[in-house]
Amino acid sequence: MQVLGLDVGGSGIKGALVDTRMGTMITERHRIPTPQPATPAAVVETIAAITGHFGWCGPVGCGFPAVVKGGVVLTAANIDSGWVGLPGKRLLEEATGCPVWLLNDADAAGMAEMVFGAGQGQRGLVLVITLGTGIGTAVFSDGHLVPNIELGHIELHGKDAETYASDGVRKKKDLTWEQWAHRVDEYLHTVERLLWPDLMIIGGGVSKKHEKFLPLLTAKTPVVPAVLRNEAGIIGAALAARHSLAATSG
Ligand code: BGC
Repeated sequence: MQVLGLDVGGSGIKGALVDTRMGTMITERHRIPTPQPATPAAVVETIAAITGHFGWCGPVGCGFPAVVKGGVVLTAANIDSGWVGLPGKRLLEEATGCPVWLLNDADAAGMAEMVFGAGQGQRGLVLVITLGTGIGTAVFSDGHLVPNIELGHIELHGKDAETYASDGVRKKKDLTWEQWAHRVDEYLHTVERLLWPDLMIIGGGVSKKHEKFLPLLTAKTPVVPAVLRNEAGIIGAALAARHSLAATSG
């Protein structure tokens, strides 16, 4: 089944058609820079432009950088605060004319990794951590997603962890790989003390360069790079949409 997967990020909004059985993108990725500020109207318009680019009117799965419950956006750490409380799913359906499934972006990336990537067949507690503009986390217990777990916002050195250890901070402060790896390591140690995961999967764009920082980490839990890298968000959003549509159509 083909689904248009979308990933709304801090710097870019990306989409591609996905073969949800194979877990692969069947078109080139189309990317439009995230409008600044990322107000609801501007983001909705950008998403409609991506849908239009593909001439698509089928199911759409959209990963969004916020807590999303029942299609409603409940937080806004890295997007415009005007999103809080808005019915994102309904707004996107009205703008695109497509059935839309809206979910947290890290949950989407995590689903792709669990089904097609580094978490395949993993039992126990798996934590997928996406390091990007912010820090996104997805928690799986015996393969089942526990949605909207926001471990990117735990406190570290008296700060919101994502303002200390995200890849956005590495770029903004021009940290060396060693300096940044040390921050990520502190973050992982804190998280493992709280959750005792069996596996941690590191995703986000920077996971492409995992050899620069993963070997410097000292966490006790096995830590592996995401396999689907930057594509996980798009593929996972499409996968989630397929599952939800199958569930609602009985
Ligand atoms: C948001 C999360 C999101 C993460 C990655 C955080 O600031 O609170 O919901 O998953 O950024 O985009």
